[in-house]
Amino acid sequence: MTTPALTLTREITRTGPRPMRAIMLGCGVVGGGVIDRLPDGIKLVGVLARTPRPGGIAGAPVFTDADAVFALKPDLVIEALPGGRFAEQLLERAVQAGCHVVTANKDVAARRPDLVRRAKSFACSAAVGGGAPVLETVQRLSEAGTALTRVRGVLNGTSNFVLDRLARGETLDSAVQAAQEAGFAEADPSADLDGLDAANKLALIAREAWGVQLNPAEIDTQSISDLPAGAGAKARADGRVLRQVASLSRSPVGVKARVRLEALTLDDPLARTRDEGNCVVLSPERGAVVIVSGKGAGRGPTAASVIGDVTRLLAEVRS
Ligand SMILES: NC(=O)c1ccc[n+]([C@@H]2O[C@H](COP(=O)([O-])OP(=O)(O)OC[C@H]3O[C@@H](n4cnc5c(N)ncnc54)[C@H](OP(=O)(O)O)[C@@H]3O)[C@@H](O)[C@H]2O)c1
Repeated sequence: MTTPALTLTREITRTGPRPMRAIMLGCGVVGGGVIDRLPDGIKLVGVLARTPRPGGIAGAPVFTDADAVFALKPDLVIEALPGGRFAEQLLERAVQAGCHVVTANKDVAARRPDLVRRAKSFACSAAVGGGAPVLETVQRLSEAGTALTRVRGVLNGTSNFVLDRLARGETLDSAVQAAQEAGFAEADPSADLDGLDAANKLALIAREAWGVQLNPAEIDTQSISDLPAGAGAKARADGRVLRQVASLSRSPVGVKARVRLEALTLDDPLARTRDEGNCVVLSPERGAVVIVSGKGAGRGPTAASVIGDVTRLLAEVRS
């Protein structure tokens, strides 16, 4: 009479836990990189895209209709759509359906703290720093009881890439086109150039560091499009480098945030950030500053950051 129970035990051991059913919203620069590296334990059951792919991707069917992909009843929604209303609606839907959420989308993550609170779980490491582990480091410092007073960073890879080209005498149009061809800039690069993308990231860092919710639209920003012609080359001739500097400072009266274009001296860690790199200097109340740097954009580093969130989620769910 004991044989069936023994057989069942062996079967469970051999097959392991049920894979987590995931859908991927978007399969462009970031989503495509994520699909290529999903870890064991995740079963991709469907992909949402704008353009049909009749053969599917990585063995999963591709849908152009959001209802069809949500009808697959996923456990996990991985989102890599362009920011904006459509992505926001689908993340809302994922949260309402009780799914775990992993997203690369800073726009929605910054504007909708309620979604983060209501979600079964919500991770957005790729939304700040691309491949540079900015939110992860802020979280670890905060868990260790290290209070930050100031954060200063180059948080937008596209702007940094563009500013490096302006310094070499390229026009804004050709620098933006190069960023788009490299997969850093979206079709509409205004959120990058105008500083809104960096403002979204500041809001996410402030939330992680201090539990404070900033409205990204109210953060003071400056646009690269308003730079006078030759400003980058002039800074270079003066032995300086133009950077889009995003900063937060905390005092007893509150948190101040801003995104400014600054001509930095070459010994500044932010000045040494090249091309699509990101760099953040985290200053604690006491002790040494912590500098986090890495590739801030592009398929490989951003997808790796999303995969990091997925892997942590799997480990948590299975612990
Ligand atoms: N690229 C980076 O370096 C980077 C870095 C950090 C964070 N992010 C964030 O990651 C997200 C994705 O960026 P990305 O560079 O991967 O964008 P992308 O290359 O333009 O890919 C967007 C994907 O969304 C799909 N899509 C767009 N509109 C759709 C619609 N109405 N219905 C269904 N599917 C739709 C597209 O479908 P088709 O393939 O059919 O066009 C595409 O697969 C953004 O929020 C971005 O801010 C990007």
